[in-house]
Amino acid sequence: MNRLWYGGDYNPEQWPREVWDDDVRLMLKAGVTVATVGVFSWAKLEPEDGRFEFAWLDDILDRLHAAGIRIDLATATASPPPWLSLAHPDILPVTAEGVTLGTGSRQQYSPSSATYRRHADRLVRALAQRYGTHPGLEAWHVNNELACHVPHDYSEESAAAFRAWLEARYSTIEGLNEAWGTSFWSQAYGSFDEVMPPRAMPSFPNPTQLLDFDRFSSDAWLDVYRAEAAILHELSPGVPVTTNFMGFFKHADYWAWGREMDFVSDDHYVDPADPAAPAFAAMTRDLMRSLGGGAPWILMEQSPSAVNWRERNAAKPPGMHRLLSLQSVARGADGIMQFQWRQSRAGAEKFHSGMLPHAGENTRVFRETVELGAELETLAPIIGSRLSARVAILFDWDSWWALEQSATPSRLSYVENVFRWYRELWRRGVLVDFVHPSADFSSYQLLVAPATVVLPESSRRSLASFVDDGGHLVVGYQSGVLDEDLHVILDGYLGELREVLGIRIEEFAPPAAPSFSGGDVPSLAITGLAAGTAQEWGEVVDVSTAEVLARFAGGMLDGHPAITRNAHGAGTAWYLATAPDALSAVLEEVLTAALPGLPAAPPADVEIVERGGLRFVLNHSDTAVEVDGLRLGPRDARVTGLDI
Ligand code: GLA
Ligand code: GLA
Repeated sequence: MNRLWYGGDYNPEQWPREVWDDDVRLMLKAGVTVATVGVFSWAKLEPEDGRFEFAWLDDILDRLHAAGIRIDLATATASPPPWLSLAHPDILPVTAEGVTLGTGSRQQYSPSSATYRRHADRLVRALAQRYGTHPGLEAWHVNNELACHVPHDYSEESAAAFRAWLEARYSTIEGLNEAWGTSFWSQAYGSFDEVMPPRAMPSFPNPTQLLDFDRFSSDAWLDVYRAEAAILHELSPGVPVTTNFMGFFKHADYWAWGREMDFVSDDHYVDPADPAAPAFAAMTRDLMRSLGGGAPWILMEQSPSAVNWRERNAAKPPGMHRLLSLQSVARGADGIMQFQWRQSRAGAEKFHSGMLPHAGENTRVFRETVELGAELETLAPIIGSRLSARVAILFDWDSWWALEQSATPSRLSYVENVFRWYRELWRRGVLVDFVHPSADFSSYQLLVAPATVVLPESSRRSLASFVDDGGHLVVGYQSGVLDEDLHVILDGYLGELREVLGIRIEEFAPPAAPSFSGGDVPSLAITGLAAGTAQEWGEVVDVSTAEVLARFAGGMLDGHPAITRNAHGAGTAWYLATAPDALSAVLEEVLTAALPGLPAAPPADVEIVERGGLRFVLNHSDTAVEVDGLRLGPRDARVTGLDI
């Protein structure tokens, strides 16, 4: 398509036919180019077991096509109709506590349910047979936000699938016992039949059992995608297939998923009241671009204004929706879609904003909808272009899952650790890719590894060669502590990175949390580089060859290294044993070495990104700014040719 995607979820089944004509008229007025149809239409398409009703969908697709609006056709499998679970209660998911989840909302099925899969496949086959060569079809949209509400299912059927998954991974029960460390707490299994999913249990679950269940659950949901995609590829050749991701979603390993998508698409809902939202949104865009190997992606859903599922649902102030849309385009999106086209009149999402609000056409939100459509039309020349980053942050679901288990040295948030670095780089105006620890790092000058707690030997070695070959590597605390089975890397953690970093770690000593009995919580202090306060983590670092750039001051860590730097091979490696509040000072030191000649940082809350010969200057602040001779109002954006 030679236009950017612009439009949203379109749910005509919620409205009488008179409204449909109005929809198409207003879509054209708004410059809508694509509509996502049928996401929650299963009950309408198959009102009884095996009886399909397609006439209404024929009508809708023909209307859209006649108007030149392209169709992102959903497979409608996201919300099974009530008759299905009534006839086959075995499809219903079960929680860790043994509670069966019932009907009345959506996604009430287990990804491992053979009955669900049989019915879903039949529906997808029928849709693909009927519409697979429809001239208006732009893409297929599998299911919706897979795993969103039911990330883990503990039913008997999932338990059996988990055992099969484990057998494929370990071949023998001895292999599983070894990997899971079942000599601990008398957990040794005699056969795969004895193994259970980590259902509610008296104390800490076996950590590797938990991790494998996370891996298995991600794979089980990905299998739901694969099954549908295979049918679509067979019956609708040449039409790309995707499913909508959920940004930094913990329960799906999107590296594995990204490889299966014909293009990556994402749903992102900022909290307009969160001052960190622009940086966090930018981070999510960069993750999506990275998951697709740098290819353009589609922002599949965002809210035109407020959502309906937070405690307080702030409206987006004027300009914010446009800013975040242009931010997505700047960071690699070839389409801007919203949830949803027309705000619902009934149902659980009637207070979620739509492109066309309850109050109709004569509204600020609809005017902004129209303006954004017109502006996106002018950006068509950018379609297909890629960005190139010199800096990458390691990102890995194994580390995310392992770091946030309950039996750990301290409760830490993985994404918070990643975001701390990302935000600093964003403020500095540095474009970032995300990479898996097993990726090829050779195109980057700087790698940052925050809390990458799981590092298999192969990744430790390739990080070491990256530095050997002249790369710059920053390693944050709680990295390289465990291997892929969650066994501790002995002799000071870090493994092969000990030599690269010129240190070993002798003991963890995170600062105390506030106590119920009161008293002062000793705050962490550091001297040297990034002098001042520090957060969340401390440890005893033994230096072999590294230079100490900062030290802890006071408390049991007094005088111990907090930040180190080590020249190794042709490169340099830094280690941080805490989270300094003045992280910017550390970043400056690193960037001076890694990216000499970097332009000055943009003003606060201003983002500058270049893509496809265009320069996007985005002012997220609510005051006017002047940047490189351009004057921007509050929450304003300017797109210029690079040569201007
Ligand atoms: C998700 C879903 C949509 C809708 C929105 C509301 O993104 O995919 O169906 O529920 O959330 O924010
Ligand atoms: C209790 C248990 C031990 C061990 C310790 C850990 O004392 O008896 O097996 O779990 O707690 O603090």
